[in-house]
Amino acid sequence: MTAIQPARRTELLRFPDGFLWGAATAAYQIEGAVAEDGRTPSIWDTFSHTPGKVLNSDTGDVAADHYHRYREDVALMAELGITAYRFSVSWSRITPHVTADALGPVNEAGIAFYSSLVDELLAAGITPMLTLYHWDLPQALEDADGWANRATAQRFAEYASVVAARLGDRVTRFTTLNEPFCSAYLGYASGVHAPGRTDDVAALRAVHHLNLAHGLAVAAIREAAPNARVSITLNLAWVRPETDSERDADAARRIDGLQNRVFLDPILHGRYPADVLADTAAVTDWSFVLPGDLEVISAPIDALGVNYYHPTHVRHWTRERPREGADGHAGGGARPWVAADDVEFPVQHGAPCTAMGWTIDPRGLRELLLRVAAERPGLELMVTENGAAYPDEPGPDGRVADPERIAYLRDHLAAVHEAISAGAPVTGYYVWSLLDNFEWSHGYSKRFGIVAVDYATQRRTPKDSAWFYAATARANAVER
Ligand code: NOJ
Repeated sequence: MTAIQPARRTELLRFPDGFLWGAATAAYQIEGAVAEDGRTPSIWDTFSHTPGKVLNSDTGDVAADHYHRYREDVALMAELGITAYRFSVSWSRITPHVTADALGPVNEAGIAFYSSLVDELLAAGITPMLTLYHWDLPQALEDADGWANRATAQRFAEYASVVAARLGDRVTRFTTLNEPFCSAYLGYASGVHAPGRTDDVAALRAVHHLNLAHGLAVAAIREAAPNARVSITLNLAWVRPETDSERDADAARRIDGLQNRVFLDPILHGRYPADVLADTAAVTDWSFVLPGDLEVISAPIDALGVNYYHPTHVRHWTRERPREGADGHAGGGARPWVAADDVEFPVQHGAPCTAMGWTIDPRGLRELLLRVAAERPGLELMVTENGAAYPDEPGPDGRVADPERIAYLRDHLAAVHEAISAGAPVTGYYVWSLLDNFEWSHGYSKRFGIVAVDYATQRRTPKDSAWFYAATARANAVER
C-alpha cells in the first residue's frame, strides 16, 4: 500500500514578465574610501565622527569596502540572478568643492568610479537604477544651513545635471531623493540622523527645499538625459490608529499629513495639504514657499518608488502621560515629528518584530501600493526598499541560516503580488539590502543584507535568504 502524502498547500505566485528583481544599497552605507580620489566630507562623516551619535562610534570610513570591491559585488549579484541594482551616488565624490554659491568643478575620479560600476553592471546584464541623494549632503552645504537653505535645492539640480549628462548614456533610471522624510525630520527635527539638528522650523524648510530640489532635478535630468525615466523614493507610512477614538483618528491624520501627503500632494498634485499647513501654523507660516515652486515640484515623474518596512501605529498622547517607546523609523523614542507632540508610535507588545523592533505586517505594503495606484492611475510603481534586520550568526560550517528573513521576504513579496493582481502597476522589487552595511545611527549592529559581510575580513557570504531570493528571481515567482 502506498502511504498517502499530505497535500502541500503552496501556491505559486507568478510576477509579470520583465519584473525587475533588484537589490538596493546606498553610498555611505557600503562604499568606505571616504578620503580617496578627491572625495570631501559629507554630513554623515561629520555626524558619525561626533561622539555619542552612532552606536559603538561606528563610522562609514571603511564600511563594506565596496569602493574597492564593486566588481566582486556585481559578480555576486549576477550569480544570484539579480536583474536590477539600486545604488546611490555620493555627491561629495562628484563635486567635492560645492558651496552654497557654486557647484564647483567636477571630480573626474568620482565620475570614473560610478562609470565603471555602471559598465560592470551592464556587462553582467543588470539594470542600473541610480539614486542621486541618499542622505549624504556635502558638509560645506550644511555649513551654509543645509536643506534649510533654498540654495541647496539649486545646487542639487546642478549636481543632478552633471550626473545625468555623464552617466545618462547608460543609466536610464534615475531617482532624485531617497526618503526625504528622513532627511528633513530625522536630520533637522529629532536630530537622530545627520546633521543632528533639533529645529522644527529648519525641518519644515527642509521638507520644502527637498521637494523643490526634486522638482528642479527632474527638469535638469530630462534636459541632460532625454531618455531617462525619473522617479523619487518615499517611505510612505501605513498609519494605524490604536483605537477608533476621535483623538487617535486625528493623530493618524496628522501623521499621514506629515509623512505622506506633505510629499505626495506637492509632487502629484502641485499643492501642500491645508491641514498640514494648519497643524504647523504655530511653527511656521510656510512663507519659504515662493510663487512658482509648486509648479516646479509637480513636474511629471515616470515612476514612484515606495520603501516599506513596518506599519506606523499611532495614538494620541499628552505630555502628562509617560511615553513607552517608539516604533518610528529611527527607533529609540526620539521624536521624529515637528509640531506633533500629541501623537506617538507605541511598540505593539507581543507582536512579531525584527531586530529593529519594527512590527512585521506585510498588509501595509499592499495597502500603500494600492493607495498610490488609486491616487495616480497608471503611474509606474516600484518597491525600492523592503527587508529586515536579524542577528544572523554564521553556523560552524560558515552557513548563515536566516529563516525569519526568508519568511519576511516571502510574505512581503506575496503582498506585492496581491497589489499587482488588484491593478497596481508595480514593475520591480529591490530587497534592502544586498550587503550587511552601516545602518546609520545603529552602526554595524544591525544586519539587513541577504549577503553577510565579515567586517574584519570583508568576506561576503550569501545567507540562505540570498539563495531563496535567487530562486525567486529565476522563477519570476514566489511560493506561498
Ligand atoms: C531606509 C533607508 O533608505 C536605508 O538607508 C536604511 O538602511 C533602511 N531604510 C533600513 O533602515
